[in-house]
Amino acid sequence: MTTASSPSPSLSPVPVAVLVSGSGTNLQALLDAFHGSTLARIARVVSSRDGAGALERARRAGVPTVVLRDPDDADELVRALGDARLAVLAGYLKRVPPAAVARFRWRLINIHPALLPDFGGRGMYGRRVHEAVLSSGAQVSGATVHYVDEEFDRGPIIAQWPVPVQAGDTPESLAARVLEVEHRLLPLVVQELVRQGVPGKPVKVSVQQPNFDGTTERRKGDA
Ligand code: GRF
Repeated sequence: MTTASSPSPSLSPVPVAVLVSGSGTNLQALLDAFHGSTLARIARVVSSRDGAGALERARRAGVPTVVLRDPDDADELVRALGDARLAVLAGYLKRVPPAAVARFRWRLINIHPALLPDFGGRGMYGRRVHEAVLSSGAQVSGATVHYVDEEFDRGPIIAQWPVPVQAGDTPESLAARVLEVEHRLLPLVVQELVRQGVPGKPVKVSVQQPNFDGTTERRKGDA
C-alpha cells in the first residue's frame, strides 16, 4: 500500500500500538504499510501471550514488544500502550478491561473477520466465525473495523469490506479470502484515522468497495 503523505511533514509520525495474540498477519500488513511512513509508525506490539507468532514479526521489524503478565490488569495494559495515540487490536483474543477502554476511548479499534453486527460477540473468533457464516446461508461475509467499547464486537463500526461467499466454500477457504481483505482494510483505516488526527469521536471511513467480479468501483468524489 502507498501511504498518504503527512499533512505537515514537520510532524513526527503518529505512534500506533498493535495488540496481538496470534500469528500476526494483520500486524505484518500494518508493518509493511507504514514502513518509512511520515504519517504513522508502529511503535510497539503488545501480546496477551508469550510465543505468539506476531512477536517474531515485531522483532524482525525492530519494533519493541511487551508480553502482558495479566491481560485483565488495566494499569498494566495502559502502561504497555505507552505513548500510542491509536491502539489496534489485530487478532487480540482477550477482553480489554473497561478502565483501559475508557482511557483509550475512540482510540482503540479492532478488526473482525465478518460483517458485524452479525457473527460477532464473545467466543466468536477464528474458524467459528466462518462456520457460523456458512451455516447461516449468508451469501456475503467480509471484514469489519470498529471501535472497541465495553462489549465484545459491539462498538461503532468504522469501515466494512464485503467478501462474497462462494459455492463450495469451507471455513478455511472463506477465512483465507476474508483475511486478504483484512490486510487491505486495516492499513487503510489506520491511515485515514491518523490522517484525521485520531478524532475524539467515532467516525466512519469510506473505502473503495470491490465489485464481486474483483474490480473496484470508484465512488463519486474519489480521486
Ligand atoms: C483475523 O482474522 C482478525 O480479523 C481476527 O483474528 C485474526 C487474526 O489473524 N480478529 P492474524 O493474527 O492477524 O493473522
